[in-house]
Amino acid sequence: MFALAHLSDLHLAARPRLRELPGKRGLGFINWHSGRKKVHRPEVLDAITRDLKARTPDHIAVTGDLVNLSLPEEYARARAWLHTLGPGSAVTVTLGNHDLYVPGAARLPAEFWGDYMRGDDDAEPGAFPFVRRRGPVALIVLSSALPTAPLLATGRLGETQLSRLTAALAASEGLFRVVLIHHPPVNHIKRHLRRLTDARAFRRVLAERGAELVLHGHDHRRSLIWLEGPRRTIPVVGVPSASALAPSGRAHAGGFNLFHISGKPGAWHCEVITRTYGADGRIRELEGETLC
Ligand SMILES: [Fe+2]
Repeated sequence: MFALAHLSDLHLAARPRLRELPGKRGLGFINWHSGRKKVHRPEVLDAITRDLKARTPDHIAVTGDLVNLSLPEEYARARAWLHTLGPGSAVTVTLGNHDLYVPGAARLPAEFWGDYMRGDDDAEPGAFPFVRRRGPVALIVLSSALPTAPLLATGRLGETQLSRLTAALAASEGLFRVVLIHHPPVNHIKRHLRRLTDARAFRRVLAERGAELVLHGHDHRRSLIWLEGPRRTIPVVGVPSASALAPSGRAHAGGFNLFHISGKPGAWHCEVITRTYGADGRIRELEGETLC
């Protein structure tokens, strides 16, 4: 039995300096103060982190938006939090749109979180996609993050990543292949400004090559959809924000997902449970789902 924990979208914030405020970060800062800072609470993240560690998962996946405005101090805070989760060998990170909020931040994720963003081939940190083998699991890690214009939170994989994804899925056949990405692979009209622009091409690769599981964040919701695969449908599971105090709008209260994976090729078994932050400050477990 292999236990894989998944959390996402903590949105750790820091106070920007005046010179950092013009442009997109300024709008983001107003947005933070007018609402988001009441939603993403350190005490929730602390409770979620403690509860997750108490489950002693074999590996932890973090699917982006660790920070809020891509400020250096935010990356440092996120690194300190990652260290509380575990070493780079036990925790895998991919990036969300807030982790590359502005073009000037391009190098910062690898600088601060390099050990968490490196494949088993020891290539440069942040060379997406990268692959990590852990027990029966192959983690195939994509980055859909790119700096966008203000008010946009779109993502893109691009042709190079998609062709490397195709190769990685083929090379990992026989393992329990888990694809990590920040943006969900299916777009809704209501989320047009937050969509994955090449979602259709991504789904085409999955339909051709297959995967055992796709994990994403971005929506701050617990969700499960199924995508077409070559032999069987592929479960796609979204996770709430790890720091959300309570439900707001379409978003759910903070939480994380825990997957229990067992079996062998052709006869995998995988169950997911969600542990979520309650109004009384306690973590409770939602009813689990069998995915395969
Ligand atoms: Fe996001």
